[in-house]
Amino acid sequence: MGRGRFAGRYGAARLEELERQARAAARPAGPQPADGPLHVATLPARPPAGPPSQLWLAENAALMRALLAQPAPRFRLIYLDPPFNAGRRRTARLGGPDGAREVPAYKDEASFGAHLAALAERLALARDLLEPDGTLYVHLDWRSVHEAKVILDYLFGRARFLNEIVWCYYGPSPIRSAFKRKHDTILAYTRSRRYVFNADAVRVPYDPVTVRTFASSPKAGFGKVPDLARGKVPEDWWYFPVVARLHGERVGYETQKPEALLERIVRASSHQGDMVGDFCCGSGTTAVVAARLGRGFVAADSSPLAVAKTRLRLERLAARPAVEVSCWPAAPCGMIATGMGDETLGLTDAPA
Ligand SMILES: C[S@@+](CC[C@H](N)C(=O)[O-])C[C@H]1O[C@@H](n2cnc3c(N)ncnc32)[C@H](O)[C@@H]1O
Repeated sequence: MGRGRFAGRYGAARLEELERQARAAARPAGPQPADGPLHVATLPARPPAGPPSQLWLAENAALMRALLAQPAPRFRLIYLDPPFNAGRRRTARLGGPDGAREVPAYKDEASFGAHLAALAERLALARDLLEPDGTLYVHLDWRSVHEAKVILDYLFGRARFLNEIVWCYYGPSPIRSAFKRKHDTILAYTRSRRYVFNADAVRVPYDPVTVRTFASSPKAGFGKVPDLARGKVPEDWWYFPVVARLHGERVGYETQKPEALLERIVRASSHQGDMVGDFCCGSGTTAVVAARLGRGFVAADSSPLAVAKTRLRLERLAARPAVEVSCWPAAPCGMIATGMGDETLGLTDAPA
């Protein structure tokens, strides 16, 4: 992308300026560690072996193929939240309270066939990157979740279908001729019959109505009284508020998902010290949650703004993880680093 087009698109010719604005747009949350870059690698010719966590500005199919060519890392958990094919461009927010504006972040539009073909390729690669006892979660909505289910049945086998999780939320909608579309669907598949599911790590309190019912009569529940104090394993439908309503969590990325959603997934399907993968990492929710919960991660996105937001969120963590920030392939992406002039954040003048 030439400098003129870049400036037109992002409204900032200098990348330091873009990063400054991204920082201003990201609201402070929690303790603020001292300023300074994450560990930034010199650009490798190939993905480096063995660092605990990696953040990539990369086209995910190319990166996944490159990772597959190496013996490690493999993932106990992969969460994929790809574009839903909503037929429009998605945006990110830049600038502080005085000059905030929306800029394009990534394309969420393709023909139906192209979208499914791209999805199928990435789902197959993700499957192959799982540990033998790993789990893949794929986050979609009504537009293509049904076709994805068929693809996943084919790739994993119907018997490996763990859950269809329905994430429900509230929010405004212009729809008047149908019910408001206020849920996403997350499909979970396990690589094999043996898989990690930490039921005790995700228990929630019983509903007060249930507790009252059991207190009301010894015959409630036909005499089978659950361990009310221990709590229950959640149902396969979850309510978490959307990020638009979580002012302390928003970092100005349109499709940012709530940390609570990822926290439940990461706790359920990985252990401390495991590797978690997210190859459509967007604003970095999975990476942030994985780091907070003591997991390593590989996070990747082809949008420089996504990688910038992810890095900012990781930098803000009180216990900042060691992260190698890189791009793939090196040549067109340029350098992702802090304070390195026009190369900063990988937003270079190189052809898109
Ligand atoms: C729905 S968003 C992910 C949001 C993320 N879960 C969060 O909490 O912020 C999908 C992301 O996939 C990225 N993406 C789309 N196609 C990609 C590709 N081929 N390679 C890498 N990333 C891609 C987009 O740039 C976008 O950031």
